Amino acid sequence: MNNSLQIRTFEEYQEKYKRSIEHPELFWGEIAETFKWQRKWDKVLEWNFSEPKVEWFIGGKLNITENALDRHLATRGNKTALIWEPNDPKDDTVRLTYRELYEKVCQFSNALKKQGVVKGDRVCIYLPMVPELMIAVLACARIGAVHSVIFAGFSAVSIADRVNDAEAKVIITSDGLNRGAKQVPLKRIVDEALELCTSIEHVIVYNCLNWPTEMKEGRDLWWNDIIADESTECQAEMMDAEDMLFILYTSGSTGKPKGVVHTCGGYMVYTAYSFQNVFQYEENDIYWCTADIGWVTGHSYIVYGPLITGATTVMFEGIPTYPDAGRFWQIIDKYGVNQFLTAPTAIRSLMAFGEEHVMSYDLHSLKVLGSVGEPINEEAWNWYYVHVGKERCAIVDTFWQTETGGVMLSGLGNLSPMKPTFAGYPLPGIHPCLLDQEGKEIEESDTEGYLCFKAPWPSILRTTYGDHERCRLTYFAYYDGYYFTGDGARRDADGMYRLIGRVDDVINVSGHRFGTAEIENAINTNSKVIESAVVGYPHPIKGQSIYAYIILDDATSDSQLARAEIIETVASEIGKIAIPEKIQFVSGLPKTRSGKIMRRILRKIAEGDVSNLGDTSTLLDPLVVEEIVKNAL
Ligand code: WTA
Repeated sequence: MNNSLQIRTFEEYQEKYKRSIEHPELFWGEIAETFKWQRKWDKVLEWNFSEPKVEWFIGGKLNITENALDRHLATRGNKTALIWEPNDPKDDTVRLTYRELYEKVCQFSNALKKQGVVKGDRVCIYLPMVPELMIAVLACARIGAVHSVIFAGFSAVSIADRVNDAEAKVIITSDGLNRGAKQVPLKRIVDEALELCTSIEHVIVYNCLNWPTEMKEGRDLWWNDIIADESTECQAEMMDAEDMLFILYTSGSTGKPKGVVHTCGGYMVYTAYSFQNVFQYEENDIYWCTADIGWVTGHSYIVYGPLITGATTVMFEGIPTYPDAGRFWQIIDKYGVNQFLTAPTAIRSLMAFGEEHVMSYDLHSLKVLGSVGEPINEEAWNWYYVHVGKERCAIVDTFWQTETGGVMLSGLGNLSPMKPTFAGYPLPGIHPCLLDQEGKEIEESDTEGYLCFKAPWPSILRTTYGDHERCRLTYFAYYDGYYFTGDGARRDADGMYRLIGRVDDVINVSGHRFGTAEIENAINTNSKVIESAVVGYPHPIKGQSIYAYIILDDATSDSQLARAEIIETVASEIGKIAIPEKIQFVSGLPKTRSGKIMRRILRKIAEGDVSNLGDTSTLLDPLVVEEIVKNAL
């Protein structure tokens, strides 16, 4: 571990913070010095938010896996890098030391090269939470291939969209996966997806379940076959600091998900720096993040941040409620986990099962409890603090995004003051502000505004793959000179930030982001649907849930059947995770005279708050609102 990175007191944080804002280049240059570079950078930073163009550590050469693996071998070769906990608690744990992980990564790197993968090629990864997922990610990084991990809950159509957008050459999958009591046939889903793709040359299949699997001659290869003769040494590709490291698709308010692009140097520096400080990781600690590597949290805080820091990182294949609602706490007890990061939706769902599941286990090892992905409500915060943390652990509510690459606002372990439901202060190098409707900075405290950032940090997204203009329009064009998060926030008198939810058309369901337009497009592919409008509404466990208002072409048709079909459509267009919880068939939608759907009204109805729908008289058809209210679910 890189002790020089660690902030030890709140006063030190304040000093560092001041310096980072006044002298960002000096500040980040010193931090970057502590990493392994093949060539030092010429200049720390160049940027403008108008194109936008952001470059960190310009001219620097490195390979992120040399930082995550090679440089630990001398001092931590025998330290456990990865502890893998299987879905079924009766199955065996896998532990890999840094040396073993290094060898497996090198071996798979060689196998990828043998299949013709070269620097710059895109490789999609659609795997369960097994060690091979981490190995595949790191192997891509080692040979300079750009990984694009697709969460193994997405449908064939979603896979095809991502493969096609990235023009991926290889996709890595498994025969199937275990998730709780369920199994999912991943390879079959990939086969279906590839009927819509032309760029894929090879499918590499890892055998997880021993299922009979159809292998297409010449295209499909078994993971174990292609690594069999490969060496466990592989020279790391020399990467420019600004070469692409990965693409990760995420939803926004418009159109299809976009490929957020992160690059090697800045992402490396920031994920390691933020990991060490937010979690206050010490050399022998065991750290566990329950996210899936299919999301950014898994990229930054299961794989890269912890490994670059030389930490022991736990990876869990299963779900919090299998075989029972004590599983998380049992795993913490089993491995003596010191830092634990999970999502509010998981906390809320476990809360509902009662405290006895927590009481059955010894949780004294815990020091820091993290929350990520959505606002944490006060009740869940308190439950986490009292029943899991026994009122002695720090809670760090980490606010960030796929686009930010790492944590932006959060406490640092037990150093920072804690306030339930507040993410807190910005990390060093992060310059937040609140803007009003006109885009003016709000100086006063105790106010709400649009959360923006004024200056770049090393792991800010660089572009959206294949469409830079979309990146500019989505994040940099709303307010000139600022990165706009899409979130609203409140700042209190002490300067602490509290997130209050998205202000755009993004719905956050159990910490997963969906655009309303994305779900509407999916619903509209059903031939029975004329038009649809989707909104989010508060849900006690998921945070938000999806409410769809749908006009059918034949109002007399069997609505039960239509509902089932629409659910099927969404599952096959996006994935089961995007299925609307409520579907209401309507004869019309509230529209302005110019044809714009008044989502504000639909949102209120979905929330069950119809007392003040505002002036509906200017709508094209005011009666439609009455009908919708009358039949609301
Ligand atoms: C929300 C996940 C409140 C927010 C790392 C953001 C949060 C979106 C928090 C990004 C938090 C994430 N408190 N809201 N601690 N963390 N969010 O890209 O709306 O999957 O814009 O990244 O999740 O989701 P994403």
